[in-house]
Amino acid sequence: MSADPGYFATYHRLLQHPPKAGAVAPPPGNDNGRPLNDPAPHPVKPASPSATPKRVLLIHYSQTGQLSAVAEQIAAPLKADPGIDLHVETLVPLTPYPYPWPFFRFLDAFPESAHLVPPPLQPLSLTGDEHFDLVILPYQVWFLAPSLPFTAFLKHPVGRRLLAGKPVVTVIACRNMWLSAHEKVKALLDEAGARLIDNVALIDPGPTLATFITTPRWLLSGKKDGFWGMPAAGLSDDQVRRSRRFGLALRDALHTHREQGPGPLLDGLAAAEVNPSLYFSERAGTRSFFIWGKLIRLAGGPGRWTRRPLLAIYVVFLIAMIVTLVPTSLALQALLRPVMRPWLSRIRDRFEQPSGSATHRLPLYDE
Ligand SMILES: Cc1cc2nc3c(=O)[nH]c(=O)nc-3n(C[C@H](O)[C@H](O)[C@H](O)COP(=O)(O)O)c2cc1C
Repeated sequence: MSADPGYFATYHRLLQHPPKAGAVAPPPGNDNGRPLNDPAPHPVKPASPSATPKRVLLIHYSQTGQLSAVAEQIAAPLKADPGIDLHVETLVPLTPYPYPWPFFRFLDAFPESAHLVPPPLQPLSLTGDEHFDLVILPYQVWFLAPSLPFTAFLKHPVGRRLLAGKPVVTVIACRNMWLSAHEKVKALLDEAGARLIDNVALIDPGPTLATFITTPRWLLSGKKDGFWGMPAAGLSDDQVRRSRRFGLALRDALHTHREQGPGPLLDGLAAAEVNPSLYFSERAGTRSFFIWGKLIRLAGGPGRWTRRPLLAIYVVFLIAMIVTLVPTSLALQALLRPVMRPWLSRIRDRFEQPSGSATHRLPLYDE
């Protein structure tokens, strides 16, 4: 089932009509009849009646609904707070990406993903002149790069104006390979003049080799359940539910204007735990996607039949690479661990920035 592009429609509060200071928040709920979580029983610093509401922008795109579910958990405490004005902008590609994906359509998305070639989006509801105090950017990874609709937002002139000078929190939900994508997102945020103050990375809990099978099966057939002893694809329900802690912490940070500082706002909440041993496979994969992507793009634009023979050859090469390179790289690293340890921990430290993997604030926000 494809996620409704208007999934978040009732979160939208147009900036042109912000609620008056001290106004009562509208009752939580959405078009799907699914109740949003009530405000947390946490000690919340109430908004002063004279305070101007903090304006938060949340960008939304999801195919299976997984990233929507995470975004909804984070959004709920912000939406329920009368001192915060949340605008959710749903990205709708002009030509929708299918879910489940036909096999060749899935493969055909890799050249443009790897080369960050944005697809056209339907017009955004914002002009770019609106002010936001904080921007939350949930994104999924496609072929070791940010998903194409999200890339399109980061490269969109309106997106760039919205991001310029703004503190940004990125939230990744993907299988487990997000390091290269995040490097690319950081570069695009830099180009837009945004200030990345936090990054959350949620990855599928299943073992790497199992998710190499369960994730493509999910995306190509729509079947998410576990089989042959392998776990279900995607994040667990518990991971999704617990992502609410980030919304609660952001809400409290906004009340104390901490978004204006250097950040992070989500430290101590196990925001981003890095497995540095996947870094080498990611580097090799990114290089291969880039080179083959360049070749395939020479054969025509997205969807052209002229790309098919090359895509067919590449998929054989890719499967061979996955079944040989990933286990070999993991085995070699296990053997060389004592020698590589300092280097691996530098990679871990670099990618866990800015929010980190520490857990000391979990008792405050993890319900
Ligand atoms: C075309 C495509 C390529 C993907 N490539 C990757 C990848 O390189 N690394 C990864 O960890 N997950 C990858 N995924 C999984 C997604 O990041 C994500 O977990 C999944 O598509 C669910 O996202 P949704 O919220 O849009 O439904 C890919 C998904 C798609 C559709």
